[in-house]
Amino acid sequence: MDTIDRELAAWLVHAGLVEEGAAIRAEPLTGGVASDIWRVEAGGRRFAVKRALAKLKVARDWRAPVSRNGNEVEWLLEAGRIVPDAVPRVLAHDAAVGAFAMDFLRPEDHPVWKNELRAGRADPAFAAAVGRAIAAIHGATAHSATLAARFDTDAIFHSIRLEPYLEATAEAHPDLADKLMALSRDTLATKIALVHGDVSPKNILVGPKGPVFLDAECAWYGDPAFDLAFCLNHMLLKCLWVPEARAAYLASFDALATAYLEAVDWEPREKIEARVARLLPGLFLARVDGKSPAEYITTDADRDRVRRVARPLIATPPTTLAAIRDAWEEELSQ
Ligand SMILES: Nc1ncnc2c1ncn2[C@@H]1O[C@H](COP(=O)(O)OP(=O)(O)OP(=O)(O)O)[C@@H](O)[C@H]1O
Ligand SMILES: [Mg+2]
Repeated sequence: MDTIDRELAAWLVHAGLVEEGAAIRAEPLTGGVASDIWRVEAGGRRFAVKRALAKLKVARDWRAPVSRNGNEVEWLLEAGRIVPDAVPRVLAHDAAVGAFAMDFLRPEDHPVWKNELRAGRADPAFAAAVGRAIAAIHGATAHSATLAARFDTDAIFHSIRLEPYLEATAEAHPDLADKLMALSRDTLATKIALVHGDVSPKNILVGPKGPVFLDAECAWYGDPAFDLAFCLNHMLLKCLWVPEARAAYLASFDALATAYLEAVDWEPREKIEARVARLLPGLFLARVDGKSPAEYITTDADRDRVRRVARPLIATPPTTLAAIRDAWEEELSQ
């Protein structure tokens, strides 16, 4: 949709963001497949508005309830209390409309991390800051019965994370299906901290004060290992996108993992590292054989490289992240 509809315009007035009768200019922001997002200007104010779509704009049918918009708001509010500079401020939200308004972060000083990585600009110091921020959120929300009840989103998390990634990959690799299905089940049953669920470079802005996390629709009280594994996966995948920048991506992998693990104080580090190391090969393979393949992995030769590294690591999960990174580096140097 190119502009906001009457219902949304009426809500902006009701929420006090726009004066009755004021002209509203809304520009769609590109990039989203799960929601409509606009930059809205009215009465000298500027902000962003996001509304969840019932059906995602991806090739394979993939539906998710629009209530995930409310979960995103809840995550932004909670994370905003812990790491205020690392999330946009929520200005208004409405569950019935299925929308919320937040600060608009100017692309001139908040480029999308994915675009930076695409240009070969992979800064390990920034990756470390990402690791510290997500660890801070996990640490501050660990072992909380209240938050577990507030983010009781197992069904959505299963349908938009575990099913399209791990379980769809199990279908494509019948010999590994038991391992991948057990991984999905064990992940869903692990209740430790507040998880963002989509810590991907396309959802992280490179702000003047460090990373800013967007797109928390998959928010879930569960296994914090998922967030780290999800983000580390991108550092591995990007090596196929811009091969010249491989060393910088792998350095970013190391920096992200190290900064995160150093901040873990809610459980033994080896325990969470082992869960991340078990998830990562599954998520890695999922980006070639699951429902949401990485758009920049386009040749069978590259898909086979991912399969060659991921498959044995799913069959026999490693306990350290270094083992995965080294296996991938070895494959890439062939
Ligand atoms: N508050 C904001 N300020 C500035 N730009 C924003 C803001 N929120 C979102 N955007 C822009 O819109 C893009 C999509 O946002 P978001 O990831 O929240 O939507 P989505 O539909 O859930 O996306 P997808 O499913 O593709 O990950 C972001 O990559 C960013 O470029
Ligand atoms: Mg997004």
